[in-house]
Amino acid sequence: MTWLITGGAGYIGAHVARAMTGAGESVVALDDLSAAVPARLPAEVPLVRGSTLDGALLKRVLTEYGVTGVVHLAARKQVAESVAQPTRYYRENVGGLATLLDAVAEAGVGRLLFSSSAAVYGNPDVDLITEDTPCAPVNPYGETKLAGEWLVRAAGRAHGISTVCLRYFNVAGAAAPELADTGVFNIVPMVLDRLTRDEAPRIFGDDYPTPDGTCVRDYIHVADLAEAHLAAARRLADGDAAGDLTLNIGRGEGVSVRELITVIGEVTGDRRAPVVEGRRPGDAPRAVASAERAAEALGWRARRGVREMAESAWQGWRLHHGG
Ligand SMILES: NC(=O)c1ccc[n+]([C@@H]2O[C@H](COP(=O)([O-])OP(=O)(O)OC[C@H]3O[C@@H](n4cnc5c(N)ncnc54)[C@H](O)[C@@H]3O)[C@@H](O)[C@H]2O)c1
Repeated sequence: MTWLITGGAGYIGAHVARAMTGAGESVVALDDLSAAVPARLPAEVPLVRGSTLDGALLKRVLTEYGVTGVVHLAARKQVAESVAQPTRYYRENVGGLATLLDAVAEAGVGRLLFSSSAAVYGNPDVDLITEDTPCAPVNPYGETKLAGEWLVRAAGRAHGISTVCLRYFNVAGAAAPELADTGVFNIVPMVLDRLTRDEAPRIFGDDYPTPDGTCVRDYIHVADLAEAHLAAARRLADGDAAGDLTLNIGRGEGVSVRELITVIGEVTGDRRAPVVEGRRPGDAPRAVASAERAAEALGWRARRGVREMAESAWQGWRLHHGG
């Protein structure tokens, strides 16, 4: 097998590239470098600079490298930006996927893994979110991921492509400091950013119906997430996953924002008390995955906890930002 990883020079893509090459898979990356750190990629992985919107380039890459499976991670991923620029998000996330699927079908590539998100669920009022929980995204980013899943399944049926959609919950940490997330869009980098600026971390709302009043989330170490991709890719390669498989990728364990900030304080040695501000619109009180279906289908479970996420993120933060 040779795998094309779109968005391969991104935060998660580089982790997936590393996990797959480390396990002996042959990998080529495609990235438009809009949010990439190319140095993250393992030296043996060729990087093609280009967009998923460029069908001719995609066809050339699939043929030239003899690609037999695709891991599609390239996407815009900022919720607030998606609210302000919905057409751009639909064009890049859904349009880019349609262009890729055309190229995949034309090249006769039979396997595709799609990077989806817990954002497809919106804010369901359930203890554990299963894959059967109804999808009701609350922003254009989540809509593009749900539409992407529909498109992946429809194209899979039409062209005989075996597909897997992985719905990631809250990704954090790094497998090595140089692979760390350099963006400040998720909670762990946001807290580290505040501490580095000598400011208290912020909590948005502490009056939710949760044990300590702050929002509860399911955090997953990016190294565990990368291993889930490897397991899913192997399943696709073995031909056991004919048709479509849709899986939550989380730990099945809720951690509150206050608990997470406490762990980050212990790891960084900066235990200053967080400041509580008003709720942000659209935040669900609780979003925790049921991780059972992934365990059954892939024989995979997350192994790393929140402390390892915070420690590795802090090491990466110091490398990229000082502190
Ligand atoms: N980080 C998370 O917490 C999280 C959670 C759920 C889902 N996801 C999904 O995982 C995927 C990867 O996310 P990430 O955190 O690594 O983000 P990232 O921004 O670090 O990586 C995305 C990569 O794709 C590239 N890219 C973007 N648009 C492209 C295009 N049209 N053509 C080619 N390359 C393009 C960017 O340059 C970047 O390197 C995305 O699809 C995202 O929606 C991420």
